Amino acid sequence: PSPESFSARVVRWQRRHGRHDLPWQGTRDAYRIWLSEVMLQQTQVTTVIPYYERFLARFPSVAALAAAPEDDVLALWSGLGYYARARNLHRAAKSVMTDHAGVFPTTFDALVALPGIGRSTAAAIAAFASGELRAILDGNVKRVIARHAGIGGDPASNAVVASLWEAAEARLPARAIESYTQGLMDLGATVCVVREPACATCPVALDCVARGEDRIAELPGRKRR
Ligand code: ADE
Repeated sequence: PSPESFSARVVRWQRRHGRHDLPWQGTRDAYRIWLSEVMLQQTQVTTVIPYYERFLARFPSVAALAAAPEDDVLALWSGLGYYARARNLHRAAKSVMTDHAGVFPTTFDALVALPGIGRSTAAAIAAFASGELRAILDGNVKRVIARHAGIGGDPASNAVVASLWEAAEARLPARAIESYTQGLMDLGATVCVVREPACATCPVALDCVARGEDRIAELPGRKRR
């Protein structure tokens, strides 16, 4: 009997074992989802949570954010680092006001055109806000995909990144993209970790190339520098 598809196993695992109580979950408000995804680009969940709450209390809407002085935005960002993210956030909010009549977009194409939103972030926001079927590939998900598909080489090189995107797209589900996307993030954060991954509890271990070929320690490859 053929196993359930990769995506079906990730979705089922997420529903039972994934994270469900993060403050940006359980909403389809693209403004909130966007704010969380930008904060999470280079910062851990536990650090982001209080910043996210403070930010939303001060700027409850994209209109409030767009109307604020940049210094206020930067002050609330203080401590999160990578301040280009805060400047782009403010620029994106103004762009939503002028180019989208103040309605935060939920399609991949509109999102990826905003400052500070790359391919993976746009895909995550579109998936969570509107159920659009798009592949994500952030740092943790690169590791899951590189291991499951057996993709080695420098994970920062253009050729390897292209292979990883291809493998990520080939694994997309036809439905339940929210649970699937969250499931990939949760697997990368809690199971398929860098050192000593918990393969015994992984829903996709049975056809994982890294596991089958005993290459977990060497996948993903090392960044050249
Ligand atoms: N990292 C990036 N996006 C995330 C999300 N939505 N939940 C948890 N961790 C994340």
